[in-house]
Amino acid sequence: MPEYAQDCRRGASFLRSLCKQFGAETALLNTQDQKNPVVFARFRGKNSKRAKARTILFYGHYDVIPAENNDQSWHSDPWELRGVNGYLYGRGVSDNKGPVLAALYAVADIINTLSIDIVFLVEGEEESGSRGFEDAIKTNKDMIGPVDWILLANSYWLNDDIPCLTYGLRGVIRATIEVSSERPDLHSGVDGSQLINEALKDLIALLAKLTDREGRLTIPGFYDDIPTITKVEDERFDRISNTLLRQDPGLGDVGSLTASFKARWREPSLTIHRVDNSGPANSNIISRVAKADISLRLVPNQTTSIVTHALQDFLRSTFKQLNSSNALTIKIEHQAEPWLGDPNNKIFQTLEEAIVETWAPEVQHRQNSLPTRTRTSSSSLSGPKSPKQHPATSLTLSNSSAPSNSKHQSQSPQNQKPLYIREGGSIPAIRFLEQEFDAPAAHLPCGQASDSAHLDNERLRLLNLYKSRDIFRKVFLDLPLK
Ligand code: BES
Ligand code: MN
Repeated sequence: MPEYAQDCRRGASFLRSLCKQFGAETALLNTQDQKNPVVFARFRGKNSKRAKARTILFYGHYDVIPAENNDQSWHSDPWELRGVNGYLYGRGVSDNKGPVLAALYAVADIINTLSIDIVFLVEGEEESGSRGFEDAIKTNKDMIGPVDWILLANSYWLNDDIPCLTYGLRGVIRATIEVSSERPDLHSGVDGSQLINEALKDLIALLAKLTDREGRLTIPGFYDDIPTITKVEDERFDRISNTLLRQDPGLGDVGSLTASFKARWREPSLTIHRVDNSGPANSNIISRVAKADISLRLVPNQTTSIVTHALQDFLRSTFKQLNSSNALTIKIEHQAEPWLGDPNNKIFQTLEEAIVETWAPEVQHRQNSLPTRTRTSSSSLSGPKSPKQHPATSLTLSNSSAPSNSKHQSQSPQNQKPLYIREGGSIPAIRFLEQEFDAPAAHLPCGQASDSAHLDNERLRLLNLYKSRDIFRKVFLDLPLK
């Protein structure tokens, strides 16, 4: 938002000078239309003879989502970092400032033994669809140089205590759909009649045509590019559900839990975020204009360009069928390509080893000191029969993290391995960076399910912050040798 441009710039300068202080060569990369700059920093490896590759690129963002607090819904000022009971609270601590600092401090820890270059690209427009990022990277491609691996840390564990690695993200298309008429706002008693095409009625009719009663999108060809699930992934998903159910049997059955993951991670979806209409906010108005904000989450193999066209065609032809005297305007606000990494590649395997080593003491401690379970179920999955059961959400899982009775847990090393998960959220830069540098990306989630990114009282556990720094340090040392 333009009114905060100066504050964002201060954030960028702070980050840049911290990188400089730690020994990096730095620059602020300008973006088109004077959007927030990208912080560039290169930490040069000193013993590059031992290393088989040259550069790890760490991507993150320093911009944040707004935080009002007019209704005191935050326990303390979102813009003042506050520590309570082992957690840091404040807007952006988890998404994405904490994880960026964990990676930066990890480099600083090993600056004298670093064998390869570590490049940081930390942008300031991610929450606005990474406006100007692609262009800034292309313009500065020579300075950035070749990249062997891409690493990011901008997501969360599935619950509050099992470390995870994220190998997939959905893409997104955010659009506004506007229906407008040539006449002004009217009084519904004076002018309301079946002869009038009301903008809001048209909009609702149009939105209703986008999905069927199963929630599936009705855009022709929409599902054509989505591959069916492989056996390996099916088993991975079942393993995730079984691991969570061992901790909290109240989460329901394997089938419905797995279905909720599939629906959130490897199936597309449509959300209608809000509908606005013109005129005074009383119930006598026929609005001149009605506008809806919608988003479509896409999954790997779908592309934003194909889906954007299909969406526009579908909306236009459906609107035509309404035979309305109103006009339709569609605006694409931003988009992100879906991403699918390879959990078997070197970077994921190195991350896995680092996670196992770093979290082992905690896992051991947890297993030795498990309290007897008193809680039965935290979820509504087993509630009274309703026409449609509620699927498990991130909230269900973050509430379910209390350790269960030890007899449900095995002490095998398998138990300490991270869960390989996908995510429903989107990060525009990832697929672009992979393609631009022809290098694979991997994603280490630093936060817990209860971090509340984008919500009130966003937080990050200090333990997660420090463990993430340890993991990054290990990966920065080990990966170049693989
Ligand atoms: N860190 C999130 C993306 C995310 C959320 C990844 C949850 C995994 C799990 C990122 O900062 C974000 O908020 N992305 C936006 C998209 C962007 C184009 C505005 C999103 O997912 O809505
Ligand atoms: Mn975010």
